[in-house]
Amino acid sequence: MYTTDLTGKKQAETVAEDPKKLAAFEARVANDEFIEPKDWMPEAYRKTLIRQISQHAHSEIVGMLPEGNWITRAPNLRRKAILIAKVQDEGGHGLYLYSAAETLGISRDEMTEALHAGKAKYSTIFNYPTLTWADIGAIGWLVDGAAIMNQVPLQRTSYGPYARAMVRICKEESFHQRQGYEIMMAMMAGTPDQQRMAQDAMNRWWWPALMMFGPPDDRSPNTEQSLRWRIKRETNDELRQKFVDITTPQAEAIGLKVPDPALKWNAKRGSYDFGEVDWEEFYAVVRGEGPVAKERMQARVNAWEDGAWVRDAARAHAEKRASAKVAAE
Ligand SMILES: [Fe+2]
Ligand SMILES: [Fe+2]
Repeated sequence: MYTTDLTGKKQAETVAEDPKKLAAFEARVANDEFIEPKDWMPEAYRKTLIRQISQHAHSEIVGMLPEGNWITRAPNLRRKAILIAKVQDEGGHGLYLYSAAETLGISRDEMTEALHAGKAKYSTIFNYPTLTWADIGAIGWLVDGAAIMNQVPLQRTSYGPYARAMVRICKEESFHQRQGYEIMMAMMAGTPDQQRMAQDAMNRWWWPALMMFGPPDDRSPNTEQSLRWRIKRETNDELRQKFVDITTPQAEAIGLKVPDPALKWNAKRGSYDFGEVDWEEFYAVVRGEGPVAKERMQARVNAWEDGAWVRDAARAHAEKRASAKVAAE
């Protein structure tokens, strides 16, 4: 996902920029040119991108945790191989995105520290638990599905390294979405117990998936600036509506019920009307009160600490090679 401004707070400070440079920058953006790392850019643009790309990278990495928990419990070898590949893809997405953020003048260590200290956000979706195997289906289908909806327009975002990272990520996300839907299809064609599990997972993941698009437009003060600078190409509410319109028929096709009594086709709009997201729950999860928020961060910090010996060994090896090279010269 994982790309929306999660806080809904106005974050970009106003720095007095050279009006000539600013006008030239805005003209380039309006002309759909990519902005590259060495190009001049307004400070607020740089800061917004660092926040958004690092938040996105953290979400990919934290997103490996709920699914990683199911690798040992996948029901057969085929499912296990697919899930391993998916979790590995998410690790790769995190790496491309950290690299893209680094081109804006922040280091990977700074981003990792901010995450572990609880200063950086990641997608609220990963603070919900994965209770059964059907959750792996629901996550692939709904969570990766919502991620694609957010990310496809980002292939045309104005910052070059971010846009290019998104091309491969989107291809992989579309595989993730299909594997999730295929799990749901298999379960809905299975026993009554499997069908109940699939519906239960749908009931728990539907609303958190809608929250992934971020707060409603009238409570998202950064949206306007981000659209103007083409960091963002569509608003939170537009993307949420698209997701509901595409996902509802997919649910119906396999006999799943969308857990929203207000959901109704609106022929006039050519779209579904749907119920209000529980924004209080959303803001609580953003504040770190999600059901498994503490466990997730603890698991992340443990993984970082457990991996310290690998980083130390790689560093020692690099130093040894460098000094051997100096000695040989
Ligand atoms: Fe991903
Ligand atoms: Fe994914």
